[in-house]
Amino acid sequence: MEGAVPNIYTVMRRFSVKELSRGVMIVFEGIDGSGKTTQILKVAESLKEHSYEVTVTHEPNHNSKWGQLIQNKVKRHREEVTPETELEWYLKDRKWDLETNILPALEKNHIVLVDRYYLSSAAYQGALKTFTPEYVLQRNSFAQKPDLWIILDVPVPLGQKRLRIRDKKDTKDQLEKAEYQEEVRQNYLKLAKMDIGGKIEWVDASGTEKELTETLTTIILKFLRDFQTH
Ligand code: TMP
Repeated sequence: MEGAVPNIYTVMRRFSVKELSRGVMIVFEGIDGSGKTTQILKVAESLKEHSYEVTVTHEPNHNSKWGQLIQNKVKRHREEVTPETELEWYLKDRKWDLETNILPALEKNHIVLVDRYYLSSAAYQGALKTFTPEYVLQRNSFAQKPDLWIILDVPVPLGQKRLRIRDKKDTKDQLEKAEYQEEVRQNYLKLAKMDIGGKIEWVDASGTEKELTETLTTIILKFLRDFQTH
């Protein structure tokens, strides 16, 4: 009957960890400077304090070949990369992220917090004017649909101000140019009204860091009630 009696560690884990009926995928989105990355880490900490098992992932990935191409080419010499190639790299990086990080963590019934996903492609690559956001969404039809999207909304000037404080300088990076960010924000507004797969929470992210973490934790804890096993 080996294996029939759970060992002490399994028993302790059952009491210490809140189990979910299945993995839950939650994506954070927003323009540059919306505070996403800071908030995802704070919310992950807070969910762990509530005894949930949490996995965090970020696109573009620093560890994938495609994420590194994006980092070295798109972020530094965007003018040398065609919009088609740029989109292709984000799609390949997303496939890598799904296989390497997202799907294995969902299998383990974790909460998976994803820092940017296909809504970023639709909003950002859609703002390059070569393709429509709808076309970009359709190119992402291979990707697992998340359970919840959290879109952090800030006015572009506030996003730009936060970036200047973070980077301690005025950035000339095209990705962060105000005009482009305005297009991206308009795309988010448009996409949030469409059926993009999964529930959407549009959150005003212009308040303080602490207020925002509390708001986001409350939204997520409420959302998780449907996946509670006890
Ligand atoms: P971040 O690492 O600060 O979130 O920056 C990632 C940048 O990459 C951000 O400017 C948005 C951009 N991006 C796209 O253009 N398309 C995508 O699909 C993703 C995931 C990110």
